[in-house]
Amino acid sequence: MKNFVTFEGIDGSGKSTISKLVYKKLKSNGHNVVLTYEPTDTWIGKCVQKCIETDTDSLVTAFAFIADRIEHCKQIQKWLDDGKIVLCDRYAESTYAYQGAQMEDLTDNPMKWLQELSKDRIIIPNRTFVFVIDPKISLARIQNRNNLIPFEKMSFLEKVHKNYLKLSVGKRFMKVNATKTVDELVQICCEDILS
Ligand code: TMP
Repeated sequence: MKNFVTFEGIDGSGKSTISKLVYKKLKSNGHNVVLTYEPTDTWIGKCVQKCIETDTDSLVTAFAFIADRIEHCKQIQKWLDDGKIVLCDRYAESTYAYQGAQMEDLTDNPMKWLQELSKDRIIIPNRTFVFVIDPKISLARIQNRNNLIPFEKMSFLEKVHKNYLKLSVGKRFMKVNATKTVDELVQICCEDILS
């Protein structure tokens, strides 16, 4: 059984919907499970929201996301110590993929730079699901949201998508085809978490 599980993917990939349903299913089957997300709704998470909405400098934004995560990890560790399964909608790979794309003109290998910065400061999940979808399809899915944020643009999401594919190597990662049905996706995730 995996006790710290993260859900990753570009905007409109469906990971938030699926993580909520996975949470409900595990809970209704009697598992001791908690669902959390990033950015958090703490004061640091609110700073992060502000960075996103106001097109703040990419380095400041990256530091804000990482700061939010380091604080979040204290809470995650408590849940893990209490024996809970912790599901997290977005986590470290979001920073590597999104801020990696934002910072591409700032340094040669921004994803590696961000990974180095986070290393030893955050908890490593046992499983990271990466919801893979063509950015054209994901953007079409979210077009009717009335508060699209600056990240939700095709050219940017294409870069984020490529970054996610680069990141998803190694046995911690499971790439899932996000165009499968909701039921199939929930089933895939639950089976994997409990195995
Ligand atoms: P959400 O739509 O999942 O609430 O996330 C808000 C936006 O923040 C989304 O476009 C992804 C972005 N984001 C980052 O750029 N870096 C991060 O580290 C996280 C957690 C989210």
